[in-house]
Amino acid sequence: MKLSAFWSLFRFGVKTVLFRKSDPILGTVIVTDKCNLKCKHCSVNNITSVIHPYEQIRREMQTLLDMGVKILFFCGGETFLWKDGDKTLKDLVIEAKKMGFLIVNAVTNGTFPIDLPEADLILLSLDGDRERHNAIRGDTYDIIMENVRAATSDNICFYMAINQINKDAIRDVCVTARDTKNVRAVSFNFHTPYPDTRELALSKREKAECCEVIKQMMKEKAPVFNLKSAFPYLINNSFPTPCKQCLVIENGKISVCGRCIDVPGLCDECGYFFVAEYTLLFKGNLKIIFEMLRTYLKYI
Ligand SMILES: C[S@@+](CC[C@H](N)C(=O)[O-])C[C@H]1O[C@@H](n2cnc3c(N)ncnc32)[C@H](O)[C@@H]1O
Ligand code: SF4
Ligand code: SF4
Repeated sequence: MKLSAFWSLFRFGVKTVLFRKSDPILGTVIVTDKCNLKCKHCSVNNITSVIHPYEQIRREMQTLLDMGVKILFFCGGETFLWKDGDKTLKDLVIEAKKMGFLIVNAVTNGTFPIDLPEADLILLSLDGDRERHNAIRGDTYDIIMENVRAATSDNICFYMAINQINKDAIRDVCVTARDTKNVRAVSFNFHTPYPDTRELALSKREKAECCEVIKQMMKEKAPVFNLKSAFPYLINNSFPTPCKQCLVIENGKISVCGRCIDVPGLCDECGYFFVAEYTLLFKGNLKIIFEMLRTYLKYI
C-alpha cells in the first residue's frame, strides 16, 4: 500500500471512531450475477444473468466515490465473465484506480486465466482440498490451481467460505496458500445461511473449532489475512451488524453492507469476517485497530 493511501485510510478511521461517524469507506460493484459455476453454498448466481454495461458500472463507481468510498471491490457472479465490447475486468480495475480509489480488489472463482496485476488483491475462492472444493464447486480445483500458478502477478489471496462440507479442510487451504506461487494470503468467511442453504451453516461450537485451527495455522506462519481478535465475536455472532461503512451497488440499487441486507434475520447469523472486522474497528476496539494495521500493511 502506498504511504499516502495508508494515511488517508488512517485519518478516516480516526475520524469515524472519535466522532462516531458512519460515512462509507468500502464499496462493492456487482458487475454481473452471471456465473459459469453453480456452487452448492451460493444463492446469488444467475438470477438475472445480465452483464451490466461499462458506462453503467463507471457511473456506479463514480456514485460510490462521491459518497466517500476509498476501497473498491468488483464482485459477481463471476467477475472474469464481465465484458463490454473490447473492455474487460482489467479495464474496470484500471479505470477505478484512475478515478481515485485507493485500493481496488476483484473477487473471482479462478476458473479463467488470471492476468490482473493492476488489482491490489485478487480474492480467489478456494473451498478446500481437491475433494472438498470440488464437492462444492464442481470439478474445478485443478484448472484453478493451474491458473493460479500461471498468473501474471502475485496478488492472489485465497478466499474460503467455511461450511458443513469443507469445515475440516482449513489446514489444507492454509498450507496451499503458504506453498503456492503467486498466493499472498488466505482469508476466511463462515457460511452465511440464506434460506436455501441453511443446512450448510456451522454451529457455534463448530465455528469455535474452526477458529482454533486458523489460530494454530497463524502460529505455524500461514499467511492468514484475518484478525484473530475478531474470532470470539464471529463465533458468538456478537459483532454489530450491518456494516454502515460498507456499501454494495448492483444495477443502480445501493444497499448498506451487503445484498443480503434484504433477507430477514440474516444479519444475526452473518458469517462475513470483514463485517466483524470493520464494525469492531469503527467501534474503536483497540485490539482490532492494532491487528488490522499490522495485517493490512503486511498483505496489501
Ligand atoms: C458470490 S462469490 C462471487 C465471486 C466469484 N464468483 C467467486 O466465487 O469468488 C463471492 C464469494 O462469496 C462466497 N459466498 C457465496 N455464498 C456465500 C454464503 N452464503 N456465505 C458465505 N460466503 C459465501 C463465495 O464462496 C465467494 O468466495
Ligand atoms: S462461482 Fe461464485 S458466484 Fe458463481 S456460483 Fe460459485 S460462489 Fe456463486
Ligand atoms: S451483516 Fe447482514 S447485510 Fe451485512 S454481510 Fe452480513 S448478512 Fe449481509
